[in-house]
Parts: sequence; C-alpha cells; structure tokens
Amino acid sequence: MKDIKFNKQFFSTPIYYVNAKPHLGHAYTSIAADVAIRFKQMEGCETFLLTGTDEHGDKIVQAAENQKTTPEKYAKRVSKLFQDILPSLNVENNYFIRTTDPAHIKVVQKILLKIYNDEDIYFSSYEGLYCFGCERFYQERELQDGKCPDHGTTPEIIKESNYFFKMSKYQEWLINHIKTNPNFIRPEQYKNEILSFLKEPLEDLCISRPKTRLTWGITLPFDEKFVTYVWFDALVNYISALGYPDGELFRQFWPGARHFVAKDIIKPHGIYWPIMLKAAGIEIYQGLNVHGFWNVKGSKMSKSIGNVTNPLEVIDAYGLDQFRYFLMREMVFGLDANFTQKSIVSRINSDLANDLGNLFSRVLSMNHKYFQGKVKGTDPRIEKEKSLSLALEAESAIDGFQKAMSICAFSKGLEAVWQFISKMNKYIDTNAPWTLAKDEANIDELGTILYNLMEGLRVVTCLIYPIIPQTSLKMQKMLCIQRDGKQVYTLEEIRLWGQIKEETIIAKPGILFPRIDTGKKE
Ligand code: MSP
Repeated sequence: MKDIKFNKQFFSTPIYYVNAKPHLGHAYTSIAADVAIRFKQMEGCETFLLTGTDEHGDKIVQAAENQKTTPEKYAKRVSKLFQDILPSLNVENNYFIRTTDPAHIKVVQKILLKIYNDEDIYFSSYEGLYCFGCERFYQERELQDGKCPDHGTTPEIIKESNYFFKMSKYQEWLINHIKTNPNFIRPEQYKNEILSFLKEPLEDLCISRPKTRLTWGITLPFDEKFVTYVWFDALVNYISALGYPDGELFRQFWPGARHFVAKDIIKPHGIYWPIMLKAAGIEIYQGLNVHGFWNVKGSKMSKSIGNVTNPLEVIDAYGLDQFRYFLMREMVFGLDANFTQKSIVSRINSDLANDLGNLFSRVLSMNHKYFQGKVKGTDPRIEKEKSLSLALEAESAIDGFQKAMSICAFSKGLEAVWQFISKMNKYIDTNAPWTLAKDEANIDELGTILYNLMEGLRVVTCLIYPIIPQTSLKMQKMLCIQRDGKQVYTLEEIRLWGQIKEETIIAKPGILFPRIDTGKKE
C-alpha cells in the first residue's frame, strides 16, 4: 500500500501516569512531539498536538493511599503538574486529556459495548503472571530471568474471572497491516520487534478487574461488577480527545495520527491499539514513532529506580532552548541515550555557543563594521565569477533537514543544518572579509559575501524553529525577517533564496548562547 500524505496531522504523546511527577523522560517525548508537529507546520500542514494524563488503576490508588488522600484528589494534583510544565517546555499542545474526564469515560464505554456486542469480548477465568508496574499479564517468554523486563520485579501469580478481548482473532490481519504499511511502526527495528513477537500465537487481553479488588476504573457497560482500566481505558484517549464519534476534530484529524512513545509501551500501541480500532470498526491510525530511553549511568531514568532528573532544574541551569536542542541532538531517535551534565555543557559550548552563536555574531558584527548595519546586497557578476553564492549549500541543508525530520531523525536533521553552519564558518575564513575591507575597490565583493552569509543565516534561523523556537524568533527579529502572527516559515518559503532586502538595517548582534564555565558547572 502506498503511504498516504495527510495535510492534517495529529500527533500525540503517551498520557502519563500520575503516580510520578514529570521527569526528563516525559519531557523528551513531549518535546519530540512538539518539534515534529512544528516541522509539520513548516510543511504546510494543519496540526493538532495532544497530551494528557492516565489516571486510573492500582498504581494510582496505592500512590494516593501513601499520600493519605483520595485517588480523585491525588490524580488532580499530579495531573496539574503535567499540565503546568508544558509552557515551561514550550510544548504547544492543542488539548490536554485526563482519563477521568466524563467525556472520555463515555467513549470508552461506547467502544467496549460495541466490541462486546460483536462478541469480541468474552468472560473467562484466568491464572497468569501479573506485573503491577506495567499493569498487565506477562507470558513466560516475555520475562527476563523470570522478571519483568521493565521493572525488574517478579510478577505475581493472579487467578481471577475476568473479561477478555479476542486479540488472537486479528493476529493475521495485524501482521498483514504492518507489512503492507512500511511506515506504520518507525524506526525499523521496532517494526521488526513487533513482527517477531507476532510470530507466536497472540494471547487474548484481560481488560477488566472485579470491583471487589479495584474500583478506581471505568465501569463496564455490560457488567457493573467490573471496571476496565489501563490499556482499554488509556489508548482510547487518542480518539476521545478528538470527540469520537461525531466531533469535528475527529472528522478532520483521524486517521492522520502518529503516536509518539518510548519502547516500553510499543506492544500496547503496536498490537492492542490497532486491533482495538479494527474490532470497533474505526480506521487504523497512521503510525507509531518509537524512541529509546534516557539512561543515567546505564539504567533507564525512572521513578522506581529513583534516578530521575527534573527538567525544570536543567532549564533553570542552562536555558530552555539549550535543553530542547540537547535532547533533540544528543538522542538518535530510536536508540537509548545517556544523560550527563557534561554532555549537555559540551553541546551548549561547542554546537550552540561556538558554531551557531559565533557565526551569527561574526556576520552581524562585520555587517556593522563595514556597512553600518545596512544590507549592501550582491553583485551578480562578482558572485558568479568568484563562485561566492551559498544558495546551493543552503538548498542541500534544507533537503537534508527535511528528509531527516520527516522521519523524526531529529539529530540527523540538526546535523544537516550544522554542516551548513560549519561551511559558512569556513567560507568566512577562506574569503577573509577583513582583508577585502582594507581596500575600497573590494566593496562590492565584500557586500556580496556578507549578503550570502546573511541569507545563509536566514535559512538556518528558519530551519531551527521547530527545535529552538525562542532563539529562532530572536534571530529572525535581528535579521528583520520576523512576522507577526504566523511565525512558521514553510520549507517552500525558506527555499526562496534572496529574501533579505537590500538597504535593510540589521541589528547589532547580541549573545545568543552564553558559554558555560565548565569548571563551575562540572
Ligand atoms: N500511562 C501509560 C501510557 C498510556 S498511553 C495510551 C504510561 N505512562 S508513563 O507515565 O509510564 O509514561 C511512559 C512514557 O514516558 C514512555 O513511553 C516515554 O514516552 C516517557 N518516558 C518515561 N521514562 C522515560 C525515559 N527514561 N526515557 C525516555 N522516555 C521516557 O506508560
């Protein structure tokens, strides 16, 4: 099947459990989805970004008990922390969903009833290995040395009568769907992981809990002695938030949805969710973007291990755009990455302060020194004769950026821009404007060089917008290309070489990224 191009794009983050405060791992997924959606805006798409909190289940009841409060009050308080952090991360979500929202609960019940009436949900007794951390049953073969691969704990044997969802019925259909839609699960290694898991028979999914054991869930519409929670509740957020079934947003944005998740939850997203949609007669979402873990000294950053970093502290210490840049540049999307203070400082000092910051300040300072800030413009004859145009280099940076960003290879996209930055720094050294400036006869050549550099900076400034929007806008302002209202330049607009107008007075440069004193920070 050919990949369909959606001009309305809906991206989501996982809805986070409210049993822990937001940490750097959560911040990463939210920022990655925000970067990707801003990039989609550069491609001219209309966009919708969703995030929220997952508030039912054992874990939340336990956490509330520990804090001597009710699950309602506890969930509300922690959910607010996840909502309040978004502006500090500069994540521009369009909606924030909570699974305790009455509208969400209605949609979950509607879908359950439909699937139950179609006889894809049945009642049975079951004994299995249950991980409370993941809130799901495990098959022996999924465990590592008898322990949950994610929590490192030994699952408990639980025997209960419950409702089950007939996933096995849809196994062949799912394999075929994944194989015929090559971009359904990205990057490739996770698609292969799911396909290899699907080589073994799929077990049906336990979707309920008796109210005698848990009440903090959504009552089953066909048996009020039971609740559903976790995956049958949480995954449905992606459509309840859009107002399924009749909402205008649902009509516009579904099925053009890509879900951003880390590798811990690819099975629910890559297996349960498409099968739930299929069974409910709803179109299947467009795809899943899976990233790796942020590790600290080799272990996954997580609340249960107790090695979490508060993103707000990092932002306080280094700045918001520095933090966003670091996250996007340091992690190869799909692989794990290590978080250390040393690596963030080194990225800030070398990539931001030395490469980008220096280039920006060199070019604007020279334009001030030689032309009192006024843009001189190019002399086409000299430009051609001395091969001074940077237009082709800019074009290839845009191509490289676009190709990488469209598959969420953020670090590669940034590499393409930084290669261009480094070319421009070399271009300055090779053409030595300071030598040309000594002789009035070289004035047109000097103007041509500075014009090309400023155009190159325009391209860089606009391309980095999704990753570091605040800095991009600040640079746009200094280059006199900022716009009111619509801040995003589309890729098509960026490609048009020669946008900076002659005679414009360009500001004196300020410091974009102060260098971090390594002695102090380390
Ligand atoms: N509530 C479920 C998701 C339901 S979605 C329908 C859940 N919540 S969670 O709070 O545990 O969030 C897991 C997600 O948080 C990961 O998939 C990832 O997006 C993010 N991360 C949590 N720790 C992380 C790292 N150490 N590294 C990278 N991402 C991390 O699962």
